[in-house]
Amino acid sequence: MAETEAPLVEMRNIQKYYGRVHALRDVNLRIKRGEIVGLLGDNGAGKSTLIKVLSGAVPYTSGQIFINGQEVNLRSTNDAIAAGIETIYQDSALIPQLSIARNLFLGRELRKGPGFMDRLDLDRMNEVAASLLKRVGISKKIPPTTAIGSLSGGERQAVAIARAMYFDSDLIILDEPTNNLGVAETQGVLRFVREARDTGHSCIFIAHNIHHVFQVVDRMVVMRRGAVVADDLSPRTSSIQDVEDIITGEHAA
Ligand SMILES: Nc1ncnc2c1ncn2[C@@H]1O[C@H](COP(=O)(O)OP(=O)(O)OP(=O)(O)O)[C@@H](O)[C@H]1O
Ligand SMILES: [Mg+2]
Repeated sequence: MAETEAPLVEMRNIQKYYGRVHALRDVNLRIKRGEIVGLLGDNGAGKSTLIKVLSGAVPYTSGQIFINGQEVNLRSTNDAIAAGIETIYQDSALIPQLSIARNLFLGRELRKGPGFMDRLDLDRMNEVAASLLKRVGISKKIPPTTAIGSLSGGERQAVAIARAMYFDSDLIILDEPTNNLGVAETQGVLRFVREARDTGHSCIFIAHNIHHVFQVVDRMVVMRRGAVVADDLSPRTSSIQDVEDIITGEHAA
């Protein structure tokens, strides 16, 4: 059964041009259910572009995307979210003026009261937000009513992660989630990725810190100059040095 099941996500022959920049060169990528995949590559390799395509944030030039074996046409991030793909961007899309709790529930606010009494359930959103912040390892006591604009970069990242956690997406994409994070916050992110796998979710994890990647992934995919140059590296059988050599192109073919 498991052998014949379609992968959760399959990207086929994806090409992306930004004007004359060939950002993705015939990329093929499959993500299985419950798989944690590390996406590695030097600056400008095309990692963010690839996940932006998969999350509906940028249009691709050609190729196909399948989710659960069905071809999809992702024209916006809402299309991807509806298909179960939640993305936490490098430059996280949160609204600075709104509170932590409101950002967590952006577009999916909890409501209470019947019919004409319908209004936002702020108490409940604040309550859920407070418990999620604890789970992602924000150690300081930050009230969920705090505006996002007054948080550090790491704290904002943690809020975005808490959102993916709460909405229980099939595939959670994390683009450099441990950048600018303190030790406790970093451990919170890595714990979250492990938890995601234990509960049957899939993750694509982009990070320049290869030690963080090795700690949590099942498989590593390496991109160089827009192309996938390796897609079946295991942290159990490859060394950090092997993978670094593939990233920089130093390895003998
Ligand atoms: N909006 C854009 N317009 C034009 N070119 C772009 C745009 N976004 C990315 N590029 C180019 O596409 C290529 C891939 O960029 P991308 O951001 O995907 O790399 P990355 O692997 O995520 O790098 P990093 O590790 O630095 O985040 C680069 O050459 C980059 O300059
Ligand atoms: Mg990037």
